[in-house]
Amino acid sequence: MTDSGRLRRRVHVRAYGCQMNVYDADRMAELLARSGSRPAASAAEADVVVLNTCHIREKAAAKVYSEVGRIVADARAAGRPRPRIVVAGCVAQAEGEEVLRRSPAVDVVVGPQAYHRLPDLLAAREAEGRPQLDLALAGATKFDRLPTGARAAPPSAFLTVQEGCDKFCAFCVVPYTRGAEVSRSGEAVLAEARRLLAAGARELVLLGQNVNAWRDPADSQKDFAWLLEAVAALPGLVRLRYTTSHPRDVTDRQIAAHAQLPQLMPYLHLPVQSGSDAVLKAMNRRHRAETYVRLIERFRAARPDLAVSGDFIVGFPGETDADFEATLALVRNLHYAQAFSFRYSPRPGTPAADRNGQIPEEVQAERLGRLQALLREQQLAFNRGTIGRRCPILIERPGRAAGQWIGKSPWLQSVVVAPGPGDAPLAPGDLVEVHLSAAGPNSMEGRIVGLRTATPGAAEAA
Ligand code: SAH
Ligand code: SF4
Ligand code: F3S
Repeated sequence: MTDSGRLRRRVHVRAYGCQMNVYDADRMAELLARSGSRPAASAAEADVVVLNTCHIREKAAAKVYSEVGRIVADARAAGRPRPRIVVAGCVAQAEGEEVLRRSPAVDVVVGPQAYHRLPDLLAAREAEGRPQLDLALAGATKFDRLPTGARAAPPSAFLTVQEGCDKFCAFCVVPYTRGAEVSRSGEAVLAEARRLLAAGARELVLLGQNVNAWRDPADSQKDFAWLLEAVAALPGLVRLRYTTSHPRDVTDRQIAAHAQLPQLMPYLHLPVQSGSDAVLKAMNRRHRAETYVRLIERFRAARPDLAVSGDFIVGFPGETDADFEATLALVRNLHYAQAFSFRYSPRPGTPAADRNGQIPEEVQAERLGRLQALLREQQLAFNRGTIGRRCPILIERPGRAAGQWIGKSPWLQSVVVAPGPGDAPLAPGDLVEVHLSAAGPNSMEGRIVGLRTATPGAAEAA
């Protein structure tokens, strides 16, 4: 089916939520570009707006509906026809038809495992003159049908290797919105990794809802640690990261990879959610707090300078003051370099949403405030602890002030550098040796002290 009227349509794609949604949004943009679209910098300049949505917490979904309202109102105020609006991602999957009821301006609703059909759905919208919906959850085939040509890749590129979740934590929508755990084949992952490196990427970030549950569908001997080793060995790869691991899927070999692979950055995001065994049990996390602490100790033994990050939920149904104190105690014990913490948000259809013992909002807010103050303190302490160190920085983008550049340290800190008058100009993809000279809670400042490697040619072709 062709879409002649809109062949040169301009498309604006926006991603909410996790990095996998960012990856998916890029694939959708590529897919539409292949069928003749051009990118638009804003919704106001677009004929098609794709909102790749997140359903993880209450506000995430509400944001989508107000965003749709704003796009319609802006178009009306400017006297433009409103663009075609696509709601993709996890809100689409969770709410389905409800999206069309709540937002009649929406033209296409497409779930996270069906968006390879987006060009067909947009064409059908024109041909049939009514909204289209596709919520198929046949995840295994999606990746085979997506473009991963990566004409120009960023210095640090995402690569989804695993999707979905079979763990069913009592609070979480992901098993319902993304479907069951599916791994891409090792061959497909390595092929995409090679393409990204050829297109200018120097760092790859392997993504999955439970990335360390990855297993080659064709050969169960090949687990996530095998994948780390195989990707690390690719020529041109300078840095390797991955997120998000689940404590229950950690293997000895994954821990050992942090000691053995120089490309693997000293950073680990390992969510725990709570420091209380009673809460962990009620959450169906299926591990104890102590198990998690032991894992972190073992990762740190393998890589002593490891920066540890985590996720926390406060105010889960039934959480007592003592449970919350146990979370604070775990945090005090472990010293996080970074962390994400949320107040429990009841999600329709999840087991915890209807439980007794829901915690009043003001109690949740007070607990979250205390946890975040502690985590902020630890983050600043971690950053201060790196002052005086020399390390390579991978330059990603220009900074706010003229002449400044922002790159990432091995520990995923944002580092602001400014080349001196005698220095050659910097470009994204450069790797520079830096002396870390000052720390804030969210970023570092660095002084360039060492040699840099040139940007790979392919990245300049952007
Ligand atoms: N698979 C990952 C987490 C994916 S969701 C893991 O299990 O570790 C990202 C984070 O969102 C979770 O770690 C959790 O901290 C938070 N989250 C998920 N559902 C939530 C809810 N209903 N309310 C508040 N936070 C939630
Ligand atoms: Fe959600 Fe738990 Fe699965 Fe993580 S492991 S995605 S928190 S159900
Ligand atoms: Fe959100 Fe879906 Fe990711 S709910 S966090 S976009 S998996």
